Amino acid sequence: MHHRRLLSAVSILGLATSTALAALQIVPGGTWTASNGDHLNAHGAGVIRVNSTFYLIGEDKSQGSSFLAVNCYSSVDLVQWKYEGALLSRTGTSGDLGPNRIIERPKVIYNDQTRKYVMWMHVDSSNYGDAKVGVATSDTVCGGKYEYKGSFRPLGMESRDMGLFKDDDGKAYLLTEDRKNGLRINPLSPDYLSISGSTSTHLFPTAIESPALLKLSSSGTGRYYIFGSHLTGWDPNDNVYATATSLSGPWSDWQIFADKGSNTYASQTTFVLDYGGGNVMYMGDRWKSKNLQTSSYIWLPLEISGTKVTMNNRGSWVPNAGTGGGTWAASPAETSYEGEAQGKYAGGAKEVSCSKCSGGKAAGYIGGTGGTNGSVTISGIQSNGGEGAVTTLQIRYVNGDTGPRYAAVSVNGGSPQKVAFEGTAGEVGVSSVVVRGLRQGSGNTIVVSGWEGGGWGPDVDRVVVPVQ
Ligand SMILES: *[C@@H]1O[C@H](CO)[C@@H](O)[C@H](O)[C@H]1NC(C)=O
Ligand SMILES: *[C@@H]1O[C@H](CO)[C@@H](O)[C@H](O)[C@H]1NC(C)=O
Repeated sequence: MHHRRLLSAVSILGLATSTALAALQIVPGGTWTASNGDHLNAHGAGVIRVNSTFYLIGEDKSQGSSFLAVNCYSSVDLVQWKYEGALLSRTGTSGDLGPNRIIERPKVIYNDQTRKYVMWMHVDSSNYGDAKVGVATSDTVCGGKYEYKGSFRPLGMESRDMGLFKDDDGKAYLLTEDRKNGLRINPLSPDYLSISGSTSTHLFPTAIESPALLKLSSSGTGRYYIFGSHLTGWDPNDNVYATATSLSGPWSDWQIFADKGSNTYASQTTFVLDYGGGNVMYMGDRWKSKNLQTSSYIWLPLEISGTKVTMNNRGSWVPNAGTGGGTWAASPAETSYEGEAQGKYAGGAKEVSCSKCSGGKAAGYIGGTGGTNGSVTISGIQSNGGEGAVTTLQIRYVNGDTGPRYAAVSVNGGSPQKVAFEGTAGEVGVSSVVVRGLRQGSGNTIVVSGWEGGGWGPDVDRVVVPVQ
């Protein structure tokens, strides 16, 4: 069905434009290199859209679980992310934002009356004993540091995972997991800086964390959908949703929306984004508790019809957000090129065995130290995206290190771009990268080599290229 809509868009817009857009893919679960050359570091994130830009705001986990920073990235297409900077950073020797503190699930909404961007976050001690929320504000969404206002327990209750929701009427709500009683929807004051009154709008007497709330309006009536996870620590479970036509209820029973037993495709809800055009995207974290920095993003389209919500797993998909966007689509057909079998080696790179790689082999010794610069060149790559196509490549790889490795990826002799490859802990991982300048036909060449001063690159199992 989605393919059919895409095809009609193709005939209206003309082939070159629409195929270029159609090739921009989200690759759930992979290393996702941002404009700064590193894996997106915005875990437990939320998104706020300002004008036509999406701002992704989440936790920096590059040094483990303790608070380091709340980062912001911007994008117009949900695929290419520009690092905007840290909105909050660890400060001093004590206090909420000091060393060995927990700051999780930052979420930002805009207050039309005060004209402030308001951030709420979970604030805790390292043993999760404080169980509070914190508030910070800024005049710009991601133009600089937020002013931290302090922390408290909402309605005097423990508060751990939280979410934030701004309704169409300008009223906003804190979603908070109160360990003793359940999940609460608490109304915010008109300036969004505190809880209004002394009672919750609704209390779900169920142990649900990582809440996210969505409202869809159709034919004048709105319906709310709340999503969340059961409490299983860093490990994923089958996340659930409930729906209602009023925030105060009655709410439906909790039901699963991903395949039963899949543990929500090994992820935990953090946000649900309505990005327009009838597109709603689930945003989850695939936490890697032993190496949090390598945690990845499971973003998938939600299919919502009345009270029914479902979500299928996909290796990649096309969100079609932004200019000329439309309805999301399944990925086009893809072709794989084996690093070791179809590649040409230079600079000391060579075939290595890799038990989990396709064919049991990979192209190894990419990059290097002390002046070596191993590279693998893969030629004969087919693209039907027209001249100069912009396409997401998937590089399947292995990195046995704890920290990231980097490579320079160059297409048809163009300037190389820095791509990150997070540690894969013995598995084959995927790193996605948007490249420009593919040619129509089979005359495309991709070179993967060492990034300047970047040491060894990943072992390249194969490169996956959308055909169109
Ligand atoms: C959004 O657009 C308005 C009106 O043009 C402008 O005043 C505002 O600065 C823009 N916001 C951002 C974050 O660019
Ligand atoms: C390796 O070669 C590529 C070009 O193929 C270049 O972009 C990169 O900077 C080189 N890396 C090192 C470490 O010299």
